[in-house]
Amino acid sequence: MNYHKFDAVIIGAGGAGLMAALYASKSANVAVVSKLYPTRSHTGAAQGGIGAALGNLEEDHWEWHAFDTVKGGDYLVDQDAADIMCKDAVDIVLELEHMGLPFDRTADGKISQRPFGGHTNNVTKQPVRRAAHAADRTGHMILQTLYQQCIKQDVQFFDEYQFMDLLISEGRVAGIVAYHIDSGELHVFHAKAVFFATGGWGRLWNITSNAHSLTGDAPAVLLRKGYPLEDMEFFQFHPTGIYKMGILITEGVRGEGGVLINGKGERFMLKYAPTIKDLASRDVISRAIYLEIAEGRGVNGQDYVYLDVRPEVVNKYLAEDGKTNPDGSPRRITAADIEKKLPDIADFCRTYLDVDPIKQPMPIQPTAHYAMGGIPTDVDGRILVDASNTPLPGGFAAGEVACVSVHGANRLGTNSLVDLVVFGKRGGIAMAEYCNQVELPPLPENPTAGVQAELAQLMANTQGVPAAKLRKAMQEVMMMNVGVFRTDQLLSEALEKVRELRKQFAHVYVSDRGKRFNTDLLETWELHNMLDLAEVTVLAALNRTESRGGHARDDYPQRDDVNWLKHSFIWQDGDNYRFGYKPVTIGRYQPQARVY
Ligand code: FUM
Repeated sequence: MNYHKFDAVIIGAGGAGLMAALYASKSANVAVVSKLYPTRSHTGAAQGGIGAALGNLEEDHWEWHAFDTVKGGDYLVDQDAADIMCKDAVDIVLELEHMGLPFDRTADGKISQRPFGGHTNNVTKQPVRRAAHAADRTGHMILQTLYQQCIKQDVQFFDEYQFMDLLISEGRVAGIVAYHIDSGELHVFHAKAVFFATGGWGRLWNITSNAHSLTGDAPAVLLRKGYPLEDMEFFQFHPTGIYKMGILITEGVRGEGGVLINGKGERFMLKYAPTIKDLASRDVISRAIYLEIAEGRGVNGQDYVYLDVRPEVVNKYLAEDGKTNPDGSPRRITAADIEKKLPDIADFCRTYLDVDPIKQPMPIQPTAHYAMGGIPTDVDGRILVDASNTPLPGGFAAGEVACVSVHGANRLGTNSLVDLVVFGKRGGIAMAEYCNQVELPPLPENPTAGVQAELAQLMANTQGVPAAKLRKAMQEVMMMNVGVFRTDQLLSEALEKVRELRKQFAHVYVSDRGKRFNTDLLETWELHNMLDLAEVTVLAALNRTESRGGHARDDYPQRDDVNWLKHSFIWQDGDNYRFGYKPVTIGRYQPQARVY
């Protein structure tokens, strides 16, 4: 057996995992296990900024950020967690700056900030400049900065090891089993604590901004081991993905003044969000785009609209909206500004679409982007095993894989980065404290037996259906039936299809019979995870008979605070599922109708 012993193992080397590693490694012996090379983690895809009420360009307060977060999340946000996140965001952005993160600067040398969807001046209700940014590569820069800090601190990395199982003994976490992708060998990491920072599962849908690696392995393994997942019905569609490809076009484009235009040349957000317009929250804008298309106002009658950042167009609307710079001069944008502030976006559009955003509008459609639900945790990253907040000793999680819950029913742009640094840090500190209080539990007997059996079963068929075929079918039905708008009928059809695919999975055939870099085998195992998560997503969506945030039911169009102001928990019991509920923590903000 390939055996390693640490105080704690962190799975995932994105922002949450690296932040946890940085803090936990100050007083505990920590390993980071990642299926990727760390700087390829998906945090690098977060483009436009990290929200923090620094107030560098105009008045702002962390309480305004907290209110926007609660309102954006359609009041399903736990307000104690949102307060912590928005308050800590200010210091943590400065901490990142001091670590060397190359933020863009204002003329007087402060960290530059841009407007982003749903972030407002709570008095005027107008967009506020809150997203601290490094061009349109903010997540990428966070990743590079934190990785360098971890290297400096001698954190041990195990790159290209796929997490496969969580080991439990004597009722507490005892480590993990991982698959070394290069050799095909199993490795046991014996530890007092395990921290999940594995990101989301956008690959369930066929149009997604998510990288190929985002297949929900950790939550699926936990689900199969009998642990619950929280608020799985809430999955966010980002309004602006590159048409047909899903690649993210940052909300920062609209932060810089970009506008959404339908096939009739109309700036349609004036109709859906008259105050905040193109910077309404993502759920509102994604629904607006779908409605425009459904009513025949897609571009050329097709299923896309335009995102327009051409300077002459933007400047016309900035003038119409009376937008000014902090010194009171009229706000304008030039081609050079676009090249400087949105270089990756310009590059993506030129490369993938042959569209030059300085001269042409960009064809976009909503793209599956972010899981609001996930592994339930408290505000210190402790995994909860029930709706009464009972922790799993030694189990921690943060970032997109976790549900703390700061995003409620719909996350605000930039808050993913805030979430992962704030709760990655808090979870890392709490985990190190835990490790310093407990002894290493014994390993369970034959710790790799479960994974060996699972892999043997996947390799058992000598012919059959390839995983890619089943994956495509799953992604298509999730996109068509479990997307921006849902109904009982659509969801029931999806459930039937996903269950049929799960049956077909028994006949899946792995054609690569080798051990080294057997991505065919790994992708097959990942598909098993995705099918499990697809089923619980559909079940949770069927169960919630209201519309809230990213969960829009045509057959239940109203938010129903009487019956549904609560988090849902789902457990897998063999072939059955059961639900539980947990009240939302309300603080200063009583639920009210959302108007943008
Ligand atoms: O639009 C964006 O730049 C995405 C950021 C986010 O999801 O927070």
